[in-house]
Amino acid sequence: MLSVSNLSVQFGKRVLFDDVNTSFNTGNCYGIIGANGSGKSTFLKILSGKMDPTSGFVTLENGKRMSVLEQNHNIYDDKKVIDTVIIGNKKLYDIKSEIDELYLDYNDANAEKIGSLQQQFEEMDGWNAESSAAALLSNLGIKEDLHHTLMRDIDGKLKVRILLAQSLFGDPDVLIMDEPTNDLDYETIVWLENFLANFDNCIIVVSHDRHFLDAVCTHISDIDYNKISHYSGNYTFWYESSQLALRQRTQQNKKAEEKKKELQEFIARFSANVAKSKQATSRKKMIDKLNIEEIKPSSRRYPAIIFERDREAGDQILNIDNLKYDIENECLFDKINLNVVKGDKIVVFSKDSRATTAFYQIINSNISEFQGKFSWGITTSQSYLPLENHHFFSDNSSLVEWLRNYATTEEEREEVYLRGFLGKMVFSGEEALKSCNVLSGGEKVRCMLSKMMMTRANVLMLDEPTNHLDLESITAFNNSLKKFKGSVLFTTHDHEFAQSIANRIVELTPSGIIDRYMSFDEYMEDEKIKDLRMKMYNN
Ligand SMILES: Nc1ncnc2c1ncn2[C@@H]1O[C@H](COP(=O)(O)OP(=O)(O)OP(=O)(O)O)[C@@H](O)[C@H]1O
Ligand SMILES: [Mg+2]
Repeated sequence: MLSVSNLSVQFGKRVLFDDVNTSFNTGNCYGIIGANGSGKSTFLKILSGKMDPTSGFVTLENGKRMSVLEQNHNIYDDKKVIDTVIIGNKKLYDIKSEIDELYLDYNDANAEKIGSLQQQFEEMDGWNAESSAAALLSNLGIKEDLHHTLMRDIDGKLKVRILLAQSLFGDPDVLIMDEPTNDLDYETIVWLENFLANFDNCIIVVSHDRHFLDAVCTHISDIDYNKISHYSGNYTFWYESSQLALRQRTQQNKKAEEKKKELQEFIARFSANVAKSKQATSRKKMIDKLNIEEIKPSSRRYPAIIFERDREAGDQILNIDNLKYDIENECLFDKINLNVVKGDKIVVFSKDSRATTAFYQIINSNISEFQGKFSWGITTSQSYLPLENHHFFSDNSSLVEWLRNYATTEEEREEVYLRGFLGKMVFSGEEALKSCNVLSGGEKVRCMLSKMMMTRANVLMLDEPTNHLDLESITAFNNSLKKFKGSVLFTTHDHEFAQSIANRIVELTPSGIIDRYMSFDEYMEDEKIKDLRMKMYNN
């Protein structure tokens, strides 16, 4: 279906891919994994023709169409929902827009041009585009009254369904997606998992989300050592078998037959579990062959994430009094009263992700139109990881210069000091001198974390901190937050993160707050709280 030949990619001295030859076949779902900065997004850009490789080429079978799920959820903000879907067929959309524009200034001179465009439009079945886009949207659960709303006024989790409709518009043979579960709530992720598990064409998806990879993939494609290797099976299978490979490699005195037997038993056990599991979909292949010699232990590195505080905060951290926030006459939360005290590690939760993001923006003084009051304890100092970080990386300064902007002491301004810091976040040597606007998604988050660490604040606020990070970074981050002695307010769709860090759960609803000292699991499973939540969102 889609093949890659002799592909090499290099940025300056840094080699990302070296002579890669591989192919992707119909009916399979390939989960592309690899460390932050290993080249996953770059690879997808090359597959979809948005970027040229240093050498080599990509071939898509004749007559087949490829489509890409847009990663930036906000680039269509000034477009209507229905038009956003039609843009999925770019050529058709361009013709339609040109006709609309020419009509605004209809005269004899452009009548002929309009005529010829209309003919092309008709040949592409353009007159039915709107109705088929509408049908697609309705199938994806986007009600008709939203079809003519502007994208900027759409809830984040619906946006991704609309962008998915865009990528599915015209029934593509290859569907390409880069980290589709970022910014999604739990329910929408489950919905997407089911949708993809039943999509019959070829899917190539980058993700750092283990649960998602397990639910949708028939193959894992690991990017490491400048190559891409496909392994049949889902993520857990790949992970466990690569761990087994690593163990076997160190057992020098074990006989080859013994190793082989161990491997066969492992595969048999695993296949039995897959067959029993709820997620075993019809097209999920049984895992029968695997050559352990082919699996190389991964070369990923753990970043050193350590949050220290300049000073300890007093008992009073943050006081919030009757906070209310609406957008466009829609209330996101109201009657929020909250007193954060020393030792609190709070999951800030809401059914609507716009609510939690607005909450952080308000208490960081980035939004001024709200009702109610908040005040920080005088001994507190804050550090905030916002959901969106694009605007921090707009110029082309090097990583060292970038971090220096946030230094407060002479010592911190020193190159050696800054480099030491970047090294902890796995940017060493030349890497620390690259320009900050070429960073990958995960690398940007790592830079934001190094900035936060340097701030040495005693209160941390984190809006979806695991987005973009690779599994090694997530583990290091999770451990550091467990150890952190200050206060934390955070919002995450990562279950493990929420469960292992928080001692208090706070939910923001349009009819008030739910506030409990308990673990995340206890909160989600409590029947009384379930009833309460139902009532508070429906009022
Ligand atoms: N124009 C460029 N010049 C130099 N380096 C670049 C350029 N573009 C990308 N890079 C680097 O190439 C590497 C690969 O980037 P890419 O975005 O493909 O990573 P990724 O695997 O998608 O990472 P993530 O998991 O964080 O999304 C990164 O280290 C990035 O900084
Ligand atoms: Mg990427």
